[in-house]
Amino acid sequence: MHRAEPMGFAYGDTRVVQQSSSMRAIFSIIRDNEIETVIELGTHFGGFALMVSDCFKSLAVHTFDKTDQYLTDAVRHSKKIKFNKVDVLNDPDPVLNLLKLKKKTLLYCDNGDKIKEFDLYADGLKPGDIIGCHDWGTEIDAKDIADIITDDKFVPVEHDLFQKEMWLARFWQKIVK
Ligand SMILES: C[S@@+](CC[C@H](N)C(=O)[O-])C[C@H]1O[C@@H](n2cnc3c(N)ncnc32)[C@H](O)[C@@H]1O
Repeated sequence: MHRAEPMGFAYGDTRVVQQSSSMRAIFSIIRDNEIETVIELGTHFGGFALMVSDCFKSLAVHTFDKTDQYLTDAVRHSKKIKFNKVDVLNDPDPVLNLLKLKKKTLLYCDNGDKIKEFDLYADGLKPGDIIGCHDWGTEIDAKDIADIITDDKFVPVEHDLFQKEMWLARFWQKIVK
């Protein structure tokens, strides 16, 4: 059983606003599915982007936030992480254009309105791509995305494990366009 860790955990001189123990399962999803690009919606300090970038050397990491006021220097000056100052709820094109590239992508929704993010972006995913979100059960739940994450198009990824461990992230893989 794992605590919520609302302030996340320290990673070098930045912070990751996730449950620390859940990161190993997120890494497994990236590794086992041979993800080539991670797109994070909601950067904050940038710790999540930095951690996945550090752990997967050939992974492209694009992270989006409407503000850079919290962004840590290690992320701001990273040559590998692409930080984008974009309001992703009002300007979807930058993310949709990345999803069009022929790279197997994990899109992680972690900003102000996860339900709207699924609404805007789930359709843009390619077969094999994965969509995930944080704050499952508090800010977003199955009924909110029942019309978007349908059984004919998506399969859950490791939901039993995330449920058992009381981790707040959830992931689905797209199977058909
Ligand atoms: C919980 S934090 C993200 C934490 C980060 N993913 C991590 O794991 O460390 C949420 C971030 O979403 C950003 N945000 C909120 N609404 C947004 C929007 N419409 N477009 C882009 N970013 C937004 C906030 O500025 C905030 O930095």
